[in-house]
Amino acid sequence: MLSTKTLFARTVQTTARRALGTTTTRGKHTVPDLDYDYNELEPVISAKIMQLHHDKHHATYVANLNVAEEKLHEAQAKGDVAAQVALQPAINFNGGGHVNHTIFWKNLIGEKNGGGQLHDGVLKSAIENKYGSLDKLQQVVNGKTAGIFGSGWGWLTVNPSGQLDVVTTANQDMPSNIGHIPLLGVDAWEHAYYLDYNNVKADYFKNIWRVINWKDVARRYDEAMSKF
Ligand SMILES: [Fe+2]
Repeated sequence: MLSTKTLFARTVQTTARRALGTTTTRGKHTVPDLDYDYNELEPVISAKIMQLHHDKHHATYVANLNVAEEKLHEAQAKGDVAAQVALQPAINFNGGGHVNHTIFWKNLIGEKNGGGQLHDGVLKSAIENKYGSLDKLQQVVNGKTAGIFGSGWGWLTVNPSGQLDVVTTANQDMPSNIGHIPLLGVDAWEHAYYLDYNNVKADYFKNIWRVINWKDVARRYDEAMSKF
Protein backbone atom coordinates (compact mmCIF):
# COMPACT_ATOMS: atom_id res chain seq x y z
CA MET A 1 0.00 0.00 0.00
CA LEU A 2 1.30 3.47 -0.90
CA SER A 3 2.24 5.75 1.97
CA THR A 4 0.49 9.10 2.38
CA LYS A 5 3.77 10.78 1.49
CA THR A 6 4.01 8.89 -1.81
CA LEU A 7 0.39 9.62 -2.65
CA PHE A 8 0.89 13.35 -2.08
CA ALA A 9 3.99 13.35 -4.25
CA ARG A 10 2.18 11.53 -7.05
CA THR A 11 -0.72 13.98 -6.87
CA VAL A 12 1.65 16.91 -7.36
CA GLN A 13 3.40 15.20 -10.26
CA THR A 14 0.08 14.33 -11.92
CA THR A 15 -1.18 17.88 -11.56
CA ALA A 16 1.99 19.24 -13.12
CA ARG A 17 1.67 16.87 -16.06
CA ARG A 18 -1.98 17.78 -16.49
CA ALA A 19 -1.11 21.48 -16.41
CA LEU A 20 1.34 21.03 -19.24
CA GLY A 21 -0.56 18.44 -21.19
CA THR A 22 2.63 16.44 -21.38
CA THR A 23 5.31 14.85 -19.31
CA THR A 24 7.21 17.44 -17.34
CA THR A 25 10.94 17.44 -17.85
CA ARG A 26 13.19 19.36 -15.55
CA GLY A 27 14.00 22.83 -16.87
CA LYS A 28 13.05 22.01 -20.44
CA HIS A 29 10.25 24.44 -21.15
CA THR A 30 10.93 27.15 -23.69
CA VAL A 31 8.85 29.86 -25.33
CA PRO A 32 7.88 28.70 -28.82
CA ASP A 33 8.77 31.05 -31.67
CA LEU A 34 5.94 32.87 -33.35
CA ASP A 35 5.10 31.65 -36.86
CA TYR A 36 4.90 35.28 -37.99
CA ASP A 37 6.38 38.74 -37.43
CA TYR A 38 5.33 40.91 -34.50
CA ASN A 39 3.43 43.22 -36.88
CA GLU A 40 1.52 40.36 -38.55
CA LEU A 41 -1.70 41.11 -36.70
CA GLU A 42 -1.78 44.89 -37.13
CA PRO A 43 -3.96 46.89 -36.89
CA VAL A 44 -5.96 44.47 -34.74
CA ILE A 45 -3.06 43.78 -32.36
CA SER A 46 0.03 45.99 -32.53
CA ALA A 47 3.60 44.80 -32.90
CA LYS A 48 4.34 46.39 -29.53
CA ILE A 49 1.74 44.27 -27.76
CA MET A 50 2.88 41.13 -29.56
CA GLN A 51 6.50 41.72 -28.61
CA LEU A 52 5.71 42.36 -24.95
CA HIS A 53 3.11 39.63 -24.76
CA HIS A 54 5.29 36.95 -26.32
CA ASP A 55 8.79 37.97 -25.22
CA LYS A 56 7.95 39.20 -21.71
CA HIS A 57 4.66 37.82 -20.45
CA HIS A 58 4.85 34.36 -21.95
CA ALA A 59 8.58 34.19 -21.22
CA THR A 60 7.90 34.97 -17.57
CA TYR A 61 5.42 32.11 -17.27
CA VAL A 62 8.01 29.77 -18.76
CA ALA A 63 10.82 31.03 -16.53
CA ASN A 64 8.67 30.74 -13.41
CA LEU A 65 7.47 27.30 -14.43
CA ASN A 66 11.02 26.07 -14.84
CA VAL A 67 11.97 27.47 -11.42
CA ALA A 68 8.93 25.85 -9.78
CA GLU A 69 9.70 22.50 -11.39
CA GLU A 70 13.30 22.69 -10.30
CA LYS A 71 12.12 23.27 -6.73
CA LEU A 72 9.63 20.44 -7.11
CA HIS A 73 12.35 18.00 -8.11
CA GLU A 74 14.45 19.11 -5.17
CA ALA A 75 11.52 18.66 -2.80
CA GLN A 76 10.82 15.23 -4.27
CA ALA A 77 14.46 14.23 -3.81
CA LYS A 78 14.26 15.27 -0.18
CA GLY A 79 10.85 13.67 0.33
CA ASP A 80 9.53 17.06 1.44
CA VAL A 81 5.82 16.57 0.80
CA ALA A 82 4.74 19.92 2.27
CA ALA A 83 7.07 21.75 -0.12
CA GLN A 84 5.73 19.74 -3.07
CA VAL A 85 2.14 20.62 -2.22
CA ALA A 86 3.06 24.27 -1.70
CA LEU A 87 4.55 24.40 -5.22
CA GLN A 88 1.38 23.14 -6.89
CA PRO A 89 -0.30 26.56 -7.38
CA ALA A 90 2.82 27.99 -9.04
CA ILE A 91 3.08 24.98 -11.35
CA ASN A 92 -0.61 25.17 -12.24
CA PHE A 93 -0.55 28.93 -12.85
CA ASN A 94 2.66 29.12 -14.85
CA GLY A 95 2.05 25.81 -16.62
CA GLY A 96 -1.38 27.08 -17.64
CA GLY A 97 0.11 30.37 -18.78
CA HIS A 98 2.58 28.49 -20.95
CA VAL A 99 0.03 26.12 -22.47
CA ASN A 100 -2.68 28.76 -23.02
CA HIS A 101 -0.36 31.19 -24.77
CA THR A 102 1.17 28.44 -26.89
CA ILE A 103 -2.32 27.70 -28.22
CA PHE A 104 -3.15 31.41 -28.58
CA TRP A 105 -0.18 32.22 -30.87
CA LYS A 106 -1.17 29.40 -33.22
CA ASN A 107 -4.81 30.54 -33.19
CA LEU A 108 -3.83 33.86 -34.77
CA ILE A 109 -2.78 34.95 -38.26
CA GLY A 110 -2.83 38.21 -40.20
CA GLU A 111 -5.79 39.22 -42.33
CA LYS A 112 -3.65 39.20 -45.46
CA ASN A 113 -2.75 35.59 -44.77
CA GLY A 114 -6.26 34.32 -44.28
CA GLY A 115 -7.12 35.63 -40.82
CA GLY A 116 -10.80 35.51 -40.00
CA GLN A 117 -11.70 33.19 -42.87
CA LEU A 118 -13.56 30.04 -41.93
CA HIS A 119 -13.86 27.82 -44.96
CA ASP A 120 -16.43 25.11 -45.62
CA GLY A 121 -15.76 21.92 -43.71
CA VAL A 122 -16.75 19.92 -40.66
CA LEU A 123 -15.94 22.71 -38.20
CA LYS A 124 -18.01 25.27 -40.09
CA SER A 125 -20.91 22.81 -40.27
CA ALA A 126 -20.62 22.06 -36.55
CA ILE A 127 -20.59 25.78 -35.70
CA GLU A 128 -23.65 26.42 -37.86
CA ASN A 129 -25.49 23.45 -36.40
CA LYS A 130 -24.80 24.50 -32.82
CA TYR A 131 -24.82 28.30 -32.98
CA GLY A 132 -26.54 29.13 -36.26
CA SER A 133 -23.64 31.04 -37.78
CA LEU A 134 -20.07 32.14 -37.19
CA ASP A 135 -21.34 35.61 -36.25
CA LYS A 136 -23.58 34.13 -33.57
CA LEU A 137 -20.72 32.02 -32.20
CA GLN A 138 -18.59 35.15 -31.99
CA GLN A 139 -21.35 36.90 -30.04
CA VAL A 140 -21.53 34.00 -27.59
CA VAL A 141 -17.75 33.93 -27.08
CA ASN A 142 -17.55 37.70 -26.71
CA GLY A 143 -20.48 37.81 -24.30
CA LYS A 144 -19.08 35.13 -22.04
CA THR A 145 -15.53 36.46 -22.20
CA ALA A 146 -16.69 39.98 -21.35
CA GLY A 147 -18.29 38.53 -18.23
CA ILE A 148 -14.99 37.34 -16.74
CA PHE A 149 -14.27 39.04 -13.42
CA GLY A 150 -10.61 39.96 -13.44
CA SER A 151 -8.24 38.05 -15.69
CA GLY A 152 -8.96 34.94 -17.70
CA TRP A 153 -9.67 33.41 -21.08
CA GLY A 154 -12.64 32.77 -23.34
CA TRP A 155 -12.56 29.45 -25.19
CA LEU A 156 -14.21 27.55 -27.98
CA THR A 157 -13.82 23.94 -26.94
CA VAL A 158 -14.99 20.41 -27.48
CA ASN A 159 -16.70 19.39 -24.26
CA PRO A 160 -16.61 15.92 -22.66
CA SER A 161 -19.72 14.95 -24.69
CA GLY A 162 -17.93 15.66 -27.96
CA GLN A 163 -19.89 18.87 -28.61
CA LEU A 164 -18.66 22.34 -29.42
CA ASP A 165 -18.86 24.52 -26.33
CA VAL A 166 -17.93 27.99 -25.13
CA VAL A 167 -16.42 28.34 -21.68
CA THR A 168 -14.29 30.77 -19.75
CA THR A 169 -11.43 30.05 -17.39
CA ALA A 170 -10.10 32.30 -14.65
CA ASN A 171 -6.51 33.52 -14.53
CA GLN A 172 -4.39 30.87 -16.30
CA ASP A 173 -6.71 27.92 -15.69
CA MET A 174 -7.01 25.66 -18.71
CA PRO A 175 -10.09 24.11 -20.35
CA SER A 176 -8.53 20.70 -19.77
CA ASN A 177 -9.01 21.27 -16.03
CA ILE A 178 -12.74 20.79 -16.64
CA GLY A 179 -12.35 18.08 -19.26
CA HIS A 180 -12.69 20.33 -22.32
CA ILE A 181 -10.36 20.25 -25.32
CA PRO A 182 -9.36 23.81 -26.33
CA LEU A 183 -9.76 24.83 -29.96
CA LEU A 184 -9.56 28.61 -29.77
CA GLY A 185 -8.59 30.88 -26.91
CA VAL A 186 -9.23 34.59 -26.46
CA ASP A 187 -6.79 36.08 -23.99
CA ALA A 188 -8.83 38.45 -21.84
CA TRP A 189 -5.96 39.62 -19.66
CA GLU A 190 -5.32 43.37 -19.81
CA HIS A 191 -1.79 42.70 -21.10
CA ALA A 192 -3.38 41.31 -24.29
CA TYR A 193 -5.10 44.55 -25.34
CA TYR A 194 -4.63 47.52 -23.05
CA LEU A 195 -1.85 49.29 -25.01
CA ASP A 196 -4.05 49.29 -28.12
CA TYR A 197 -7.57 49.50 -26.76
CA ASN A 198 -7.18 51.07 -23.32
CA ASN A 199 -10.37 50.40 -21.38
CA VAL A 200 -12.50 49.57 -24.45
CA LYS A 201 -12.15 45.82 -24.12
CA ALA A 202 -15.25 45.22 -26.24
CA ASP A 203 -13.47 46.56 -29.33
CA TYR A 204 -10.61 44.12 -28.78
CA PHE A 205 -13.07 41.23 -28.56
CA LYS A 206 -14.86 42.45 -31.68
CA ASN A 207 -11.68 42.90 -33.72
CA ILE A 208 -9.79 39.77 -32.75
CA TRP A 209 -12.02 37.68 -35.01
CA ARG A 210 -10.35 39.35 -37.99
CA VAL A 211 -7.09 37.60 -37.15
CA ILE A 212 -8.29 34.16 -36.10
CA ASN A 213 -6.49 31.33 -37.88
CA TRP A 214 -9.48 29.11 -38.56
CA LYS A 215 -7.27 26.56 -40.29
CA ASP A 216 -5.54 25.98 -36.96
CA VAL A 217 -8.87 25.85 -35.12
CA ALA A 218 -10.26 23.37 -37.67
CA ARG A 219 -7.17 21.19 -37.29
CA ARG A 220 -7.65 21.15 -33.52
CA TYR A 221 -11.33 20.28 -34.01
CA ASP A 222 -10.48 17.32 -36.26
CA GLU A 223 -7.92 16.10 -33.73
CA ALA A 224 -10.36 16.52 -30.82
CA MET A 225 -13.21 14.71 -32.59
CA SER A 226 -10.95 11.78 -33.45
CA LYS A 227 -11.08 10.94 -29.74
CA PHE A 228 -14.85 10.39 -29.76
FE1 LIG B 1 -1.62 36.71 -22.22
